[in-house]
Amino acid sequence: MDKFIITGGAPLQGVIDISGSKNATLPIIVAAAILGQTQSIITNVPNLADVRTLQVVLRHLGSTTNFQNGILTIDPIDLSSYEAPYDLVRRMRASIYVLGPLLARIGRAKVSFPGGCAIGPRPIDLHLEGLEALGADVEIEGGYINAQSNRLRGTEIYLRGVFGPSVGATANVMMAATLAKGTTTIQAAACEPHIADLAYFLNRMGANIEGIGTTELKIHGVASLNGAHYSVVSDDIEASTFMVAAAMTRGDLFLRGAVEDHVHAAAKKLREIGVTLLWQDDGVRVTTNQPFGSTDIRTDAYPGFPTDMQAQIMGLLSITPGISVITETIHQDRFMHVAELNRMGANIRVDGNSAMIHGVERLSGAPVMASDLRAGVVLVLAGLAAEGETTVSRIYHIDRGYEYLEDKLSAVGAEIRRIEND
Ligand code: UD1
Repeated sequence: MDKFIITGGAPLQGVIDISGSKNATLPIIVAAAILGQTQSIITNVPNLADVRTLQVVLRHLGSTTNFQNGILTIDPIDLSSYEAPYDLVRRMRASIYVLGPLLARIGRAKVSFPGGCAIGPRPIDLHLEGLEALGADVEIEGGYINAQSNRLRGTEIYLRGVFGPSVGATANVMMAATLAKGTTTIQAAACEPHIADLAYFLNRMGANIEGIGTTELKIHGVASLNGAHYSVVSDDIEASTFMVAAAMTRGDLFLRGAVEDHVHAAAKKLREIGVTLLWQDDGVRVTTNQPFGSTDIRTDAYPGFPTDMQAQIMGLLSITPGISVITETIHQDRFMHVAELNRMGANIRVDGNSAMIHGVERLSGAPVMASDLRAGVVLVLAGLAAEGETTVSRIYHIDRGYEYLEDKLSAVGAEIRRIEND
């Protein structure tokens, strides 16, 4: 397994190009492979483990994919297979995205039930309820979801669960509804930038979706969809992560490709802490000449503060004077990074779904372990800010979602290197 060795202390300075959004890319390539009838060419695709894993799933379903220099060419499935087996789905939860499109396109899907993960149980009841509302018969048997339908029928669906709207269920149901007979209205839809990007791509394929970017989506079903050319939106979470990297190292970074409209919640909190953000047409400059102060944060669905930035901002608050409180409302058990940050000298106490962070003057390098994607990347940020050497192991979690992380960071002055197969 690879690991990172980081020597902390250098302020990051320079320009970082933001990659295409992982969470937009995943459903977009599923839609291209399963819903489209002709070839799609998707650009600005990040070279990530999750994108490669999903291609394996899509090839298993009979699609042909070719990925080179950020351009993914996808020829649709050959309609011969409708099964996503356990071996593939267990490697990535987003494989569940094939369920709705398979049902809509070939009337049948057999998809392994995705398990929990390090950040909590992560049920899929809303995905199944939504597809049943469209007329699918769904059975759970032997660890698999077996779903069948004749042509799906448009309907009204309220898609909110106890933890709020669901990104995955909104994507799954929206994709299925593009080929349903009649109009589907999804109320309480998730409206994250990557959901909007998926909807724009589906419309480029010939779908008819209204209300994009809002919590009420109207999807007028069409008979068929074609492939399309499309460039994936830039990654709001990657951009926000590098904002925090600049802040934690007291650096000065320009993040080319960051989109202001997509990062309002994280930007507001960073400004409250004392970080300066200067927006330009093509990105944002992040500078850190002001004194920093504490703040309180509550994660929420978009446009609230993203749960996918909770770990990173905790890293920053761990070295910000004062006491801050972070409350996690989306994913249960998403505090795996706390023990590792404390190993590095942070002073963080968890009580239920809240963490109280007493800012310390500095962190010190230590051997630490990534337990999931965002809980992993915060350890890299902490290592960059810490005194001495930090070793982050199990970085395959980080490789799922950050493209060329060590190259991007080294280019702006970080001392970070990858040790392979250690
Ligand atoms: C997506 C993102 C993930 C992010 C999350 C919340 C992708 C590939 N992943 O995950 O990075 O952390 O959104 O922004 O885009 N829930 C239910 N029933 C369901 C579905 C979800 O109760 O059927 C709950 C979940 O357990 C969670 C909350 O709803 O507590 C939000 O989950 P959801 O938005 O579905 O997350 P994902 O789509 O899995």
